[in-house]
Amino acid sequence: KSEFAWQRTAYHFQPEKNWMNDPDGPLFHMGWYHLFYQYNPDSAVWGNITWGHTISRDLIHWLYLPLAMVPDHWYDINGVWTGSATTLPNGTIVMLYTGDTNDAVQVQNLAYPANLSDPLLLDWVKYSDNPVITPPTGIETDEFRDPTTAWAGPNGTWHILIGSRLNTTIGIALVYETTDFKTYNLLDHPLHTVNGTGMWECVDFYPISTNSTNGLDTSVTGPGIKHVLKASLDNLKLDYYAIGTYNAENVTWTPDDQEMDVGIGLQVDYGRYYASKTFYDQNKGRRILWGWINETDTEYDDLAKGWASVQTIPRVVTYDNKTRTNILQWPVEEIESLRLNCTEFEDVALEPGSLVPLDIGMATQLDISAEFEIQSDSLEAMLGETPTELECSVANNRTSLGPFGLAVLADESLSELTPIYFRIVKTANGSLMTLFCTDESRSSKATEVFRRLYGTVVPVLHGEKFTMRILVDHSIVESFAQGGRRVITSRVYPTEAIYGNAKLFLFNNATDLNVTATLKIWEMNSAFIHPFPFNEM
Ligand code: FRU
Repeated sequence: KSEFAWQRTAYHFQPEKNWMNDPDGPLFHMGWYHLFYQYNPDSAVWGNITWGHTISRDLIHWLYLPLAMVPDHWYDINGVWTGSATTLPNGTIVMLYTGDTNDAVQVQNLAYPANLSDPLLLDWVKYSDNPVITPPTGIETDEFRDPTTAWAGPNGTWHILIGSRLNTTIGIALVYETTDFKTYNLLDHPLHTVNGTGMWECVDFYPISTNSTNGLDTSVTGPGIKHVLKASLDNLKLDYYAIGTYNAENVTWTPDDQEMDVGIGLQVDYGRYYASKTFYDQNKGRRILWGWINETDTEYDDLAKGWASVQTIPRVVTYDNKTRTNILQWPVEEIESLRLNCTEFEDVALEPGSLVPLDIGMATQLDISAEFEIQSDSLEAMLGETPTELECSVANNRTSLGPFGLAVLADESLSELTPIYFRIVKTANGSLMTLFCTDESRSSKATEVFRRLYGTVVPVLHGEKFTMRILVDHSIVESFAQGGRRVITSRVYPTEAIYGNAKLFLFNNATDLNVTATLKIWEMNSAFIHPFPFNEM
């Protein structure tokens, strides 16, 4: 087991042992953040799904609580699957979740806290008349799951979405209406469908302010508000979203750009990331996004190490009022409480082909903020070139304007490294675009791990520098470009670049571009993540 000990993260949430997948029902109640999660109490692979439960004062330090819900009724005996919390105006908490029945039918169930005045919300009561929703005609009984948080409709009604698939390939978000959370009506039109996107899991739907960075409670509508619709594509195991306009009267939602609709446009995260879910944090007036980072090693290794999966650092979601085309994601400010000593580097010159080690000591737990400036006359060199592919290529593929960036979790001899970088490319119509990429191809010498090249186009507006923020935590790398316009989460398994051998490098692999880099690098403390100290009370 010790062979795997270094992979354990120091400040990301993960259970003590065994398998975890989706975040479920996040909420804030009486001073505590609650996170539930898909959890197998018996093994490090998926199965026997229960709801794990953990609480935190600050979204960083976590206390494990006993399981919140286990499969113990015919309507969830095959698994207590993903669901969401709704806090009603009177303070009541309603939990809706999918149960996999004794016949493997997916139904929606209602649960609520036994004692709302318990800040820990230890006991959960399943409603006596569960299930509250069964699959409607025309929907496969095993493709009907993951109810959203409810939002208020007119005249005391509430709406929720459930993801599914129509015919063979149409992803769909069905809308149900309820007044009491016990009986529901299926609306005659879905909120949205997108051809070719397949089964939609873990749908999420929320308002976002276009003129402020304040988060909005899920029921808020009105001027200056857009709505984000997100679906987790079962076929691709990727989370996609689109920004659009919600019409509360007709209960319809229209994407701003049809070409960038849910499942064919923007991804929430371009790396190893799935089944994300937001909630409104009434404590700090912000919308917070959780996401599941799955493993990319073998099941055999997961069983050997005794655990699988991590949750991302919770991220605040806001609207990008500069591009007006995307959301921004940024790690919650509380993460900064883990920052220890800071090392600053100013205007480090990176000539074409340069590699600069950054002497910061052990580089396994870091929060890196980096700004790159390029010599603008270098861009002219590009104009004579033939158009390049609008796709990321590996970090050692040198082109005239890139890549340049950072290599994290690298050993001294660079036998292992995970580069995170920008590459400026020329499009077919002659304009320049920027790619943001993470190259896992040399991240590990272990032969059986799955190593991907992740990347996306990122908007870099006139006058902006190229910026990235990177959270490194042993075997997790979360990278945010241009203030969170694009995010790439990586799960890596170094064998050499571990503990004191893990280093950090700046590089510029461009052949024609001079770059200067300015960085702030914090060593990160470990978070306290351990069982709730019941015995000491
Ligand atoms: C997404 C998902 C959900 C389901 C849950 C089961 O990862 O497949 O659709 O409710 O996981 O664990």
